[in-house]
Amino acid sequence: MGKETLTITDNRTGKTYEIPIQNDTIKALDLRQIKVKPEEFGMMTYDPAFMNTASCKSKITFIDGDKGILRYRGYPIEQLAEKSTYVETAYLLIHGELPTKEQLDDWTFQINHHTIIHENIKKFMDGFHYDANPMGMLVGTVGALSTFYKDAKEIHDPENRKKQIYRLIGKMITLSAFAFRHSKGMPYAYPDNELSYPGNFLNMLWKMTESKFKPHPVLERALDVLFILHADHEQNCSTSAMRGVGSSHVDPFSAVAAAAAALYGPLHGGANAEVLYMLDEIGSKENIPAFIKNVKEGKGKLMGFGHRVYKNFDPRAKIIKKLAEDVFAVTGRNPKLDIAMELERIALKDEYFIQRKLYANVDFYSGLIYQAMDFPIDMFPVLFAIGRTSGWIAQWQEMLTDPEQKIARPRQVYLGYESRDYQSLEERSKVAVKSAV
Ligand code: ACO
Repeated sequence: MGKETLTITDNRTGKTYEIPIQNDTIKALDLRQIKVKPEEFGMMTYDPAFMNTASCKSKITFIDGDKGILRYRGYPIEQLAEKSTYVETAYLLIHGELPTKEQLDDWTFQINHHTIIHENIKKFMDGFHYDANPMGMLVGTVGALSTFYKDAKEIHDPENRKKQIYRLIGKMITLSAFAFRHSKGMPYAYPDNELSYPGNFLNMLWKMTESKFKPHPVLERALDVLFILHADHEQNCSTSAMRGVGSSHVDPFSAVAAAAAALYGPLHGGANAEVLYMLDEIGSKENIPAFIKNVKEGKGKLMGFGHRVYKNFDPRAKIIKKLAEDVFAVTGRNPKLDIAMELERIALKDEYFIQRKLYANVDFYSGLIYQAMDFPIDMFPVLFAIGRTSGWIAQWQEMLTDPEQKIARPRQVYLGYESRDYQSLEERSKVAVKSAV
């Protein structure tokens, strides 16, 4: 094998540069030495949307988009979805290893014992409008937790971080359930520490007058698996927001609020809701060809299809499709499933989608499951955020403890005006009148 370097010739100057290669990457800063004149800033890379830029080194999640592989800390997602629980997977993501029985018991105890929220949070939850979007409420309330836990700003103290991590994972389900109950005009239901993490969440969502809520085991497990599938996905939009905002050394509640805000968007966590709106718009199977024709003409997208990284299949979509059968056996079949399956079948055979390597992603079927479980569409991104919290935390902690990381601060290619002099309002008005004439 040759040398682990890249030789670049600048044809403007004829100069040659030898740049080290490490892990199949070059350091963007190594390009800075490439200049025509010494006073120049130096060469940069231009990469809108970070299509080909690694912003960090990470040991958390591995994705091979061409082969449809997703692994957390080396464990295939298929094995975790089959054998693990969300709480155990969260431990794995954050600590790097699966826990021993003792470690898992302690971890579970700590998360359970941090689910209660301060009574004042209920008060500002009440302040939201009756039809407030629960994801908007979650973004607001999770950020507000920083005002209750002032010690959270001690981010460089590992013991302190641990406490905030218990709080974040524990309270996400409580805030999410309270946001839901508020939007339904229902009294808040408190956590029950005897239940599993997803069971407790279901309890806070659906408990009515019964003294003890018993979650349906199939739905409880389905939710657990959905949380596992959404737990991390390396440097996606919301995780990049978590790392970017966290790099300013703000407390983790504020950083999670930023990450959750990123997840709120229709191209990210809002996509499964968009799938259901799309299926409603299509209405019935006969309308699918006309819908596909419109998509191909650039009039809208096939929501739940395509992925920045997966260009073969999304392994999470495979697991979810199977999970849907278990859920529908309990809840009854979601009538939109037939349209979704036919839509997928037609799209997968169509040259437009084949050429662009567009396949069903995790969101194509997840919305159908959530809807069958009686979750309103507005709650879908909230469910995503609960699962993704452990990934955000793992990535945030890795960023904080990485000596190569600094505050995130990208560069730009400035293409605006050169320096020009300020004109008074009068002078500007004269110019405007002249150009109007
Ligand atoms: N329907 C129709 N055409 C599509 C779709 C789609 N869902 N996705 C991509 N394309 C087309 C683009 O128009 C583009 O076509 P062109 O080459 O003729 O211009 C080509 O495929 C490449 O697409 P890009 O937008 O460049 O791909 P990118 O990697 O930037 O986008 C994304 C990925 C945002 C997921 C995109 O596929 C999309 O918008 N999908 C629908 C929304 C969705 O399902 N999001 C969930 C993602 S998974 C998650 O967040 C958990």
